[in-house]
Amino acid sequence: MIQTNFSLLHHNTFGIDVKASRFVEYSSVEELNGLILNGQITEPYLHIGEGSNLLFTEDYAGTILHSRIGGIEVVREDTETIWVKAGAGIDWDKFVAYCVDQGWYGLENLSFIPGEVGASAVQNIGAYGVEVKDLIDTVDTINIYGEIKTYQAAECAYTYRDSIFKRAEMKNVFVTHVCFKLSKIRKFTLDYNALRDEVEGLPEITLPIVRTAVISIRKRKLPDPKVLGNAGSFFMNPIVSQVRFKELSETFPGMPYYLQPDGTAKIPAGWLIEQCGWKGKSMGQAAVYESQALVLVNKGGATGSEIIALSDAVRKAVYDKFNINIHPEVNIV
Ligand code: EPU
Repeated sequence: MIQTNFSLLHHNTFGIDVKASRFVEYSSVEELNGLILNGQITEPYLHIGEGSNLLFTEDYAGTILHSRIGGIEVVREDTETIWVKAGAGIDWDKFVAYCVDQGWYGLENLSFIPGEVGASAVQNIGAYGVEVKDLIDTVDTINIYGEIKTYQAAECAYTYRDSIFKRAEMKNVFVTHVCFKLSKIRKFTLDYNALRDEVEGLPEITLPIVRTAVISIRKRKLPDPKVLGNAGSFFMNPIVSQVRFKELSETFPGMPYYLQPDGTAKIPAGWLIEQCGWKGKSMGQAAVYESQALVLVNKGGATGSEIIALSDAVRKAVYDKFNINIHPEVNIV
């Protein structure tokens, strides 16, 4: 379906009121291929998911593409593992809920993350000690020339909130399906403090219980985009060298951190921002969320530029106090 002069208000969770010249949705690989062959997708174009990790700063003078490819299919299984393929347009949390209902282990810590299946594989979403890259087996794609290619997870260059699909030269490659490799055998990841505290003391731990625990933590800490526009973590947690980490932890003994396997350390940007006094502060209609400083929110009618101005002020404050550069996780358009 092709629509023109289309409002993107309901296609970005920040709730920024901008328009796209054209908005194209498709429900199958064949339909997308037809649009490509008919020359319906011309530059400039941008493929989005639910718009839960996007910040529009102006109207988009081009074509916004959105997948509505659905379908969940078991492609293979053995006694321990199940390979499940899902369409890129499926709501992420509906997919997680489905897997939890089926008794498949792996995705439960990623419950309640806004977004869609396709974007999960682009962004390498992560929460509570789990990154989706560890559960992805393959990613099916089609490019703007109609060429179909399946990437093995190892070919996707996954790192923290990053993948090959985020590279500029991969802009013409669209994810159509993602195949996940889940466990049929009981297996939980409960090393993340907040999640362990939530389930500790419960008489039993099951998939639905872990999912419920994750949902309650997220509801407590993160604003509901339907109530307060936001795109989850606005910044990535910075990673500092071993030497820099030693200096920082001597100067700021209370600083939280996650040591990385290579000896570097990830520092929670939310903590850095809070230490700079920015938690809960506003600039115009843009604000730093009062319960989690990593999240920037739209208090109502904010423009993308207002959010960027706030982000710049916060980044400068963190740099001035800690000599650390923090970078947006959100894609700015
Ligand atoms: N903290 C503060 N002040 C704040 C926020 C956090 O001091 O305002 C401290 C907390 O006390 C804690 C530490 O920072 O010691 C970490 O906080 P939290 O557990 O909330 O996690 P995070 O590092 O802030 C990351 C992800 C989230 C994910 C959580 C849980 C990034 C950029 N963010 O946040 O992901 O849900 O861990 O795993 O990696 C997202 O990407 O949109 C997202 C929400």
